[in-house]
Amino acid sequence: MKKIFVTSQYPGESVKHLSQKYDVSVYPKATLPTREEFLENAKGCSGLITTVADVVDKKVIDLCPELQIVSNSAVGYENVDIPYATKKGILVTNTPNVLTETTADLAWALMFSVARRIVQADGYVREGNFTCWHPSLLLGMNIHGSTLGVYGLGRIGTAVANRAQGFNMRVIYQNRSRNEKAESETGGQYVDFETLLKESDFIVITAPLTDDTRGKFGYEEFRKMKPTSIIVNVGRGPIIKERELAEALKEGEIWGAGLDVFEDEPKVDSELLLAPNALLTPHIGSASIETREKMIDMAVTSVELALGGEVPKHLVNPEVLDSN
Ligand code: DGY
Repeated sequence: MKKIFVTSQYPGESVKHLSQKYDVSVYPKATLPTREEFLENAKGCSGLITTVADVVDKKVIDLCPELQIVSNSAVGYENVDIPYATKKGILVTNTPNVLTETTADLAWALMFSVARRIVQADGYVREGNFTCWHPSLLLGMNIHGSTLGVYGLGRIGTAVANRAQGFNMRVIYQNRSRNEKAESETGGQYVDFETLLKESDFIVITAPLTDDTRGKFGYEEFRKMKPTSIIVNVGRGPIIKERELAEALKEGEIWGAGLDVFEDEPKVDSELLLAPNALLTPHIGSASIETREKMIDMAVTSVELALGGEVPKHLVNPEVLDSN
């Protein structure tokens, strides 16, 4: 029987179904496996169902000569050594689309929470400080009528921009190239990077991590933004230089930040942890019950197709088919 290792537990029944046909082991703890545990469990597997936090590199691949598929339960797949997997004839799949709207919801939750100081306000009440109403209490920023700048107008960026219509916002965006389809859907206007920095009241990063986007937002970029502006990152952590963001927040170069992803996850820059105007969440962009069920369903379907000799739908390395 072919072996499959699933590196974490998911809601729903789809992994159970897989066990009827294959020898499936699921990492039993509420954390992800350590590197050693991952290597130990991956040995001899034909399929792996992984998360973005599981590193599937040359060492893992060499340890699994029978490996046919790495099914990454995430839209991102920078945790997998794609060129090496492709060289070895291994299919790599991801789970796009199903998490788009859920991640866009979180981007807005961060925008609202930072702009209206929701976490601070909650703490204020719980700590017994609400002794009298005051006109200057916990003042924040308006979202309605402001300018939203989207950095990366792909699927998630478009979903973020779509929501702005209900708040009467101007939408501008910066992307590798113009996305005319998304423009007509969202009313977004393509601008250069400098304009995005200067004119946005909110910048939401939804771009993937590439050589071009890595370290794109540092102190100099924050200095160009409005002192009243807010930056939100639901894309990938290393797009922002965290220590420089902490410095910019401290010096009032920008007003606030909401981050769901970090430069060196799960570590967070110590200065950022001290910034009262930064709201930090632990990479929960796609973390709704319904979406996580859809993601694992999709990941399981990819494994079933691959091990049954078919081509899974969400193949991220289609060039592997040329070598197989
Ligand atoms: C993804 O899908 O890439 C998210 O970052 C993790 O759910």
